[in-house]
Amino acid sequence: MDFCGIDILSVQQFERPDVERIFDVADSMEPFAQRKQVSKALDGAILGNMFFEPSTRTRVSFGCAFNMLGGHVRETAEIGTSSITKGESLYDSARVISGYSDIIVMRHPRAGSVAEFAAASRVPVISGGDGVNEHPSQALLDLYTIRKELESKRRSIDGMRIGMVGDLKHGRTVHSLSRLLKLYRGITFNLIAPQQLRMPGEIVAELREAGHEVRETENMAKGLHDNDTIYLTRIQEERFESRLEADIYRGRFRLNRAIYTRHCQPNTVIMHPLPRDTRAEANELDDDLNQHPNLAIFRQADNGVLVRMALFALVLDVAGEVQQQVHPTRWYTGRRFE
Ligand code: CP
Repeated sequence: MDFCGIDILSVQQFERPDVERIFDVADSMEPFAQRKQVSKALDGAILGNMFFEPSTRTRVSFGCAFNMLGGHVRETAEIGTSSITKGESLYDSARVISGYSDIIVMRHPRAGSVAEFAAASRVPVISGGDGVNEHPSQALLDLYTIRKELESKRRSIDGMRIGMVGDLKHGRTVHSLSRLLKLYRGITFNLIAPQQLRMPGEIVAELREAGHEVRETENMAKGLHDNDTIYLTRIQEERFESRLEADIYRGRFRLNRAIYTRHCQPNTVIMHPLPRDTRAEANELDDDLNQHPNLAIFRQADNGVLVRMALFALVLDVAGEVQQQVHPTRWYTGRRFE
């Protein structure tokens, strides 16, 4: 795939060599993300970081990734401060913002909205998540994390077993991650969800058609015991009709140290796209696992910067120049490496 100038809207636009190219470029971004070196490859470039739905990690890490390549960031952080609340269309917004930017990252609560925005944009658009549909950069950073974590345990993605837990109906991260894993060989999916929040049937059918094994259960203990990675998700309250409806499912599947020790194999990697819901009634991933060596959630969030730097470098066609305009950091960076 030629990445130059493309929109990134869905993981379904990638083949396996494209994913591996992104990961190779992401690996090369380590010195910048670790604040050992500064690159000026995107000096003068402007990112329009348009978030019309709440976000911490995706918005900030896309912005920092652009900064780490020397570019500038302009952003809308909530729908309430945007003229979309005055009735402006996505078409008009895209036409206008693309006149001010070299590339745009966009998140919106409606499925299909980012593609609609991209069709009107005059610069490349990267999805930051569109409703229940997809979250492609999250899936890339999740898979990048899985690869690193499994390599450290001398395993590979091909043949891996993954347990996905929670709200698999509304969770766009598990939709995108499943479709990326489809590109690999012999994956076993243990899907652990209430009947009403199961993975969409068309995704399950795609996985089976591609030759992967898919097991579905509502029994958490049964689903946990045979995995290399467990991927937990939050009940996506914002996608339900009401908070009361979400409450029916909240807290139903929880992982804590005791459950992990009892039901998971000793080397199982623990992942979560974050935010995790730490309220007592939910608490799907207990903080008594915070110091556990197999808890990868913060390494996963850190990897987001590497993958997002790679996407900018490839789409804006500077991957070959990132290492050429480099100087060491001049400020204190000590605690990062402790
Ligand atoms: N994982 C993720 O999308 O987090 P944010 O909603 O904080 O961006």
